[in-house]
Amino acid sequence: MTQKIYVTRKIPDAGMKLLEEQGYDMEVNPEDRVLNPRELLEKVRGRDGVLCLLTDNIDAEVIEAAAGCKVFSNYAVGFNNVDIEACRRRGIVVTNTPGVLTDATADHAWALLLGVARRLVESDGFLRTGNWDGWGPLQYLGVDVTGATLGIVGAGRIGTGFGLRSAGFNMRVLYTASSENGELNSKVGARRVDLDTLLAESDFVSLHVPFNESTRHLIGAPELARMKPTAVIINTSRGPVVDEKALVAALERGHIGGAGLDVYEDEPGLVPGLVDLPNTVLTPHTASATRTARSRMATLAAGNLIAVLKGEEPKHRVV
Ligand code: GLV
Ligand code: GLV
Repeated sequence: MTQKIYVTRKIPDAGMKLLEEQGYDMEVNPEDRVLNPRELLEKVRGRDGVLCLLTDNIDAEVIEAAAGCKVFSNYAVGFNNVDIEACRRRGIVVTNTPGVLTDATADHAWALLLGVARRLVESDGFLRTGNWDGWGPLQYLGVDVTGATLGIVGAGRIGTGFGLRSAGFNMRVLYTASSENGELNSKVGARRVDLDTLLAESDFVSLHVPFNESTRHLIGAPELARMKPTAVIINTSRGPVVDEKALVAALERGHIGGAGLDVYEDEPGLVPGLVDLPNTVLTPHTASATRTARSRMATLAAGNLIAVLKGEEPKHRVV
């Protein structure tokens, strides 16, 4: 019998093509937008496999509606949008796309870091007003990256890639992780420390932990208070890892120096006050958005779904 699959939103061609070649009975959301919860519930019914995105909330209700579904292939490395326990109970496989977006995401974290340190967005915006009257000794002074202390919260694949990129900046590198990271230690002389030490000593703090109940508001008011008043925080992981209201307050009051954010607590909503802060660089969850990374994610997500429907082991199984 022809297997039925649903794709919640069109992904890059490399992945769509792989799926089309399988001869599935395939339906794709015809619009380039997130399905609303009611549509999602409706659309997963009767499918053998679903290719979903980080913007789809695959909760217990959706999983129940998808009775008979064998796989949710998530087009993302993060899988906090899927109720993993409910899938485990029902024997539904969940897959993700790690590895292929590590470089793109680590690059983007650096773009944010440098952008905040050197006030790129703020000064670019000023230049475009037409009000620049020429070079000035006090214009747009930023902070040094070279020689500064870099703090990596969560030294997994992306945290490690981010840390290794510091080599050219001659930085002191600190990280938190559940075990020693030999690569960071040997290649950039990094040192594993506890979170309090990292926050107190770092000039730049970059977050690379997965989001789950244990990392919700990992960075809240008390943690922000431990940071240097000049410190910059970078978040390319998941929004709820940071208490965004506390972050805005800390930035407004000058308790920390700046922030570079790619992810938000209530996407696509933004916490009040955030967009009014000049000392921030804000991108719309685009850290993995290079043509190569997104295309590889598509190939991987399609491949994972196809493998499960063939009864084979997918490359990246979460559960
Ligand atoms: C992006 O946020 C991802 O998890 O892939
Ligand atoms: C995700 O790819 C991570 O382990 O950082």
